[in-house]
Amino acid sequence: MKILVTGGTGFIGSHTVVELQNKGYEVIIVDNLSNSGSDIVDKIAQITGITPVLEIFDLTDKQKTSDFFKRHNDIAGIIHFAAYKAVGESVQKPLLYYHNNLESLINILDGMNENGIRNLVFSSSCTVYGQPDELPVSENAPVKAAESPYGNTKQISEEIIYDSVKALGINAIALRYFNPIGAHPSALIGELPIGVPNNLVPFITQTAIGIRQCLSVFGDTYPTPDGTAIRDYIHVVDLAKAHVISVDRMIDGKMKENFEVFNLGTGNGYSVLEVIKSFEKVSGLKLNYKIVDRREGDITQVWADPEYSNRELGWKAEKSIDEMTLSAWKWEKALQQNKSK
Ligand code: UFG
Repeated sequence: MKILVTGGTGFIGSHTVVELQNKGYEVIIVDNLSNSGSDIVDKIAQITGITPVLEIFDLTDKQKTSDFFKRHNDIAGIIHFAAYKAVGESVQKPLLYYHNNLESLINILDGMNENGIRNLVFSSSCTVYGQPDELPVSENAPVKAAESPYGNTKQISEEIIYDSVKALGINAIALRYFNPIGAHPSALIGELPIGVPNNLVPFITQTAIGIRQCLSVFGDTYPTPDGTAIRDYIHVVDLAKAHVISVDRMIDGKMKENFEVFNLGTGNGYSVLEVIKSFEKVSGLKLNYKIVDRREGDITQVWADPEYSNRELGWKAEKSIDEMTLSAWKWEKALQQNKSK
């Protein structure tokens, strides 16, 4: 069965393509390569033995997207990852984010509608909950006013999908990710931040390998046990597997409603200092870090209640924080080795 993976050469997309192919799905990737490279399909082939089809174009291009769907109207399902995702950049360039993230989604929904394609899995985020009033945060927690244009694109996208499901008779699952980290155990694919990483774990591994001098820990006066902010980190392979299960669920007609939402997290929160300690333990290195001011827009703490996902999807995040930081470290070292070849 043919699955379209938009953004399939990106961080979460590439890991999901691997898991889809391992389960026997035929994958077509559409990606504009704005934040990734076409060599990723070769890495996926090294892992799975199968080279996924890659079509390179921009999904905001209405004509190209429409032509694509006419050529591939036998697609059984779509997993839509392709989007811009840098929170800070979205504050500087909101229109870029609204154009890119919303127009691509609308073009995909048009393509589904025009070609009878019924199943969509959407890459959403726990950012829709803001700082939740209750922890752990379940799918029933209220969606709060977005703190960034990026977050707003995820909220608006969910609304556009919800309305489309009602009107067009399609099925959709929105997966709200907590903090995806780590890399494939092969160290052939992983996260490839362009420029200075915004996110904690790539910054840790780049500091340890010598690309960055010192990690800045953003604030140690939060009302948490060690004063640093707490997140629910989830291994990218665990996350990828939930996408395959979601696709199976739709194709097998197991959905309870035509639009479903699931939290993808472990249910465990780790502070910034705990992540650093885990990294130091698995790498045997001492990390150079300093405490600085809080980063604007950061929330104090969030972790998932994964009970509904565990029960309904029959899925559970399995990897520990140490496995996550170790796989991220192996990936960073593999990147460095390839550069020096
Ligand atoms: N942090 C540091 N130093 C850094 C980078 C991060 O101390 O150099 C801290 C942050 O302050 C935060 C934690 O590490 O407390 C995690 O930060 P990340 O940037 O890795 O992740 P965020 O939780 O800020 O962001 C993630 C996703 C976003 C999403 C957001 C929603 O990366 O896409 O969750 O809350 F929008």
